[in-house]
Amino acid sequence: MAAQDNGVRTMILEGKTALVTGASRGIGAAIAVGLAKQGADVAITDLASEADALAKVQAEIEAAGRTCYNHDLDVTSKVRIEQIFAAVTEAAGGIDILVNNAGILVAKPLEEVDEKLWDAHFDVNGKGILLCTNAILPQMRARKAGRIINIASIAGRQGSPTQGHYAATKATAITLTRVYAQEVGMDGITVNAICPGIILTEMGKTNLGSQEAIDHWSTVASLKRLGDPVDVVGPTVFFASDLSDFVTGQALNVCGGIYFH
Ligand SMILES: NC(=O)c1ccc[n+]([C@@H]2O[C@H](COP(=O)([O-])OP(=O)(O)OC[C@H]3O[C@@H](n4cnc5c(N)ncnc54)[C@H](O)[C@@H]3O)[C@@H](O)[C@H]2O)c1
Repeated sequence: MAAQDNGVRTMILEGKTALVTGASRGIGAAIAVGLAKQGADVAITDLASEADALAKVQAEIEAAGRTCYNHDLDVTSKVRIEQIFAAVTEAAGGIDILVNNAGILVAKPLEEVDEKLWDAHFDVNGKGILLCTNAILPQMRARKAGRIINIASIAGRQGSPTQGHYAATKATAITLTRVYAQEVGMDGITVNAICPGIILTEMGKTNLGSQEAIDHWSTVASLKRLGDPVDVVGPTVFFASDLSDFVTGQALNVCGGIYFH
């Protein structure tokens, strides 16, 4: 996708810097590389344990001709978030796009969910969005521009068995999206969410558990297949770019027609 500008074709995100959390694999890695292919320089972050995988994503971004900043970052650590966001801001001159992608899912029936598992999900999937967004907003407000994209889930709209605690965090992500949009819109910042359906990442495959489940849900989907991480890239580029200037507080299902509300 390229924008036409006075006869000169430009990449749609050229001149922008994005930061993606949980970017070492799956949806986060696809988004980080996808944003780079649209011209953005990208800061990729993930847990310190994922350094090897993160380095491979860095190589892909650099192969696309973009600058890549690579930092270990646990989104539950406010101190670390502030440290890394400051380092990227200093190196890149600012962060234009934040993608809150990091997430966890350990499936269990609600009756077996203990406080530790509940808190772990809310720490990463809920508090992580709050901490990262609050850390980025001062610079976005100062520049009167910014794009924040939260990776929620269709689970946040309709929970399913063994995902009650996870679904509750994703409903939280959608609500945070709507409220932030209303609180920061006056400063030219948009906040939108993407609700993937079933995407065949490590999380998606573990959750489905079997080829039979993959086959079943492929049949249920209108497009007769489940998602690939790259399926989430286009909608993210849309929310990250000026194509979506007048869109904020929205949650877009990206699910191949598996869910309609
Ligand atoms: N795969 C699906 O079917 C699906 C569907 C709907 C929504 N989602 C959401 O999309 C996002 C990406 O999921 P995925 O399928 O690529 O999963 P994944 O498990 O493949 O990747 C998740 C990434 O988040 C990172 N992460 C976990 N805890 C972290 C923390 N505390 N700090 C920083 N990073 C952390 C992991 O290291 C990993 O790189 C998640 O928010 C997930 O809930 C996935």
